Amino acid sequence: VPPVPSLRGIPLKYISLVTLAVQNSLLTIIMHYSRVSIPPSQSYSAPTAVLLNELLKGSISLAIAFARINRSMPYTSDTPQLPLTASRFWHPAKILQRVRRLGREVFSPDCWKLSIPAILYVIQNNLQYVAATNLEAATFQVSYQMKILSTAAFSVLLLRKQLSASQWLALLFLAIGVGVVQIQTGVSDTSKIASSLLFRGASMNALKGFLAVVAACFTSGLAGVYFEMVLKNSQTDLWIRNVQLSAFSLLPALVPIVLTRPSETGLISSLFANFGAWAWATVAIQVFGGLVTAMVIKYSDNILKGFATSLSIVISFLASVALFDFQITFTFILGSVIVLIATWLYNQPGRNPSPSRLTYVGK
Ligand code: C5P
Repeated sequence: VPPVPSLRGIPLKYISLVTLAVQNSLLTIIMHYSRVSIPPSQSYSAPTAVLLNELLKGSISLAIAFARINRSMPYTSDTPQLPLTASRFWHPAKILQRVRRLGREVFSPDCWKLSIPAILYVIQNNLQYVAATNLEAATFQVSYQMKILSTAAFSVLLLRKQLSASQWLALLFLAIGVGVVQIQTGVSDTSKIASSLLFRGASMNALKGFLAVVAACFTSGLAGVYFEMVLKNSQTDLWIRNVQLSAFSLLPALVPIVLTRPSETGLISSLFANFGAWAWATVAIQVFGGLVTAMVIKYSDNILKGFATSLSIVISFLASVALFDFQITFTFILGSVIVLIATWLYNQPGRNPSPSRLTYVGK
C-alpha cells in the first residue's frame, strides 16, 4: 500500500478538495465582477483569456515538471541518478541532462492520449458559451450540475468504479440539493443582471441552450474521467500530463482567435483590448483552478471533485451575503443541508466496495 501523500500530516486529497471549493467560489465572484463592472462594449475577449489560461498553465506545469524530473522518472542503468546538491542543480551539464529527460517524457509515444481530453475541454468551453447565451444564467447553472451524474456514469464505465446504493443515492441528493440552492432568489438575480449585461438581450433559443448544456455535461464527464484514466494507468508524472494536456489544447484554443477578424489597430492590440486587472485576475484564478483540478483528479477522483464544486456554490452564496448584502432564504438553507448530507452519505466508510479496479500507480 503506497503511503498517503500529505502536507504537514494533512492528506493532499483533502487539501486539494477544500482548495478547489474555495477557488471555485472566488472565480464565480471575480469573473462575475470582471464582466458586470464595465459596460458590455468594453468587455475583454474570452478566447484571449482561454488561450492565456492554457499558456500559463502549461508553463507552470513545465517548470514544476522540470524541478521534479529527478524524482518523477524512474532510474535505469543507462540513466544514473543525478546528485541533487544545490551547487550541482544549476550546473549547465546537469540542466541539459534534465531538459533531455523532460523532452523524452513530454514527447513520449503515449502523449497523443492527452489530445482526447484536450479537445473535449476546448469543445466544452465553446458549448458553455452557447448554453450561457441561450439560457438564463440560473437555468444554465442548475442544469450544468448534471455533469456530476455524467461523471459518475463515465467513472463506472471507463474506470470500472463500483458505487454502492447509498453512494448513488448521495449523488441524486447532491443534484437535488444543488438545484434547490440555486433556485433561491439571490443568485438568480445577480445571474440575470450578469446575463443581461453579457448578452445584450440577444434572442435566446432555450432548446439550443439546453442541448448545449447536455453536451457540455457529457464532455466534462468524459474528459475528466479520461484524464483520470490516463493519469492513474501509467507512471508518468502529473505535471508532465498537464504539459501534454495544455500543449494539445493550444491548437483548438487558437481556432476562435484565428477566426476573429482583427480590428484596424492590429491583432495583438485587438486581442488585449480592455484586458485590465480584473481580466488578469480571472485568468490567474482559472489557471490556479486548472492546476488544483488536476491535483484533485490525481489525489482523489472526479466524483469527489463534483462534491467540492457543489460545496463551493454554498461558499460563494455565503460570501455574497457578506459582501453584497444578500438575504439568506429558507430554500438556500434547505439546499445547503441536502448538499452537506449528500457529501456525508457519499463518504460513509465501509460502504464503498472499492474505489476503482484500476491499479493505482501514482507516486
Ligand atoms: O467543469 P469541469 O470540472 O469539467 O472543468 C474542468 C476544468 O479544469 C477545465 O476547464 C479544464 O481545462 C481544467 N483542467 C485542467 N487540467 C487538468 C484537468 C482539467 O486545467 N488536468
